[in-house]
Amino acid sequence: MIGTSDLSKLPKPELYRELASQIAAVVEGETDPVANMANAAALIFHSVPRLNWAGFYLLKGGELVLGPFQGKPACVRIAFGRGVVGTSAEKRNVIRVADVNEFPGHIACDMSSRSEIVIPLVSEDSHLLGVLDIDSPELDRFDADDEAGFREIGKIIAAKL
Ligand code: SME
Repeated sequence: MIGTSDLSKLPKPELYRELASQIAAVVEGETDPVANMANAAALIFHSVPRLNWAGFYLLKGGELVLGPFQGKPACVRIAFGRGVVGTSAEKRNVIRVADVNEFPGHIACDMSSRSEIVIPLVSEDSHLLGVLDIDSPELDRFDADDEAGFREIGKIIAAKL
C-alpha cells in the first residue's frame, strides 16, 4: 500500500510541494487515468486537513460526470455551466467559494460542505478534460496558497488524462 504522511503541520506552501511530489511519484509510469485520479484523490483527502470531499468530474458528452473521489457519495452528472463545478468548467477558471450558501446555483451533494474550490483540468492542446473539486466543512477554508497548490496538482493530473 502507498503510505500517506501527516502533512498537516507543515506550512501550506511546503505541504502542497510535498503533496504534489507524492502525487507525481505515484502517477509516474502509470498510464491508466482512473487509477491515477483515484490515487490522487486519496492522497489529497488524507494529506490536506479539514476536507470532507476531494475528487474529479470528467467532461463526457458535454456534461461533467463523477470520477474517482474520496468522501460521501456525490451527484453523478452536473450540466456544463451548473453549480460550482459546471461554472468552473464553462469559464475554465478556478473558482474559490468561501460560503457555498452564497453561491447561486451551488449543488449541495454533501450537506456538511461549507466552502469549495474547483480547478479546471485542461489538456496541453487546450481542451477541457474535467475538474478537480475539493470541499471543506469549514467556512472560507481555501486561500491563495491552497489555490496555488491545487493548481499544480491539477496540472500533474491533467497531463495523465
Ligand atoms: N458542490 C458542487 C457539486 C459537487 S460536490 O461538491 C462533490 C457544485 O456546486 O458544483
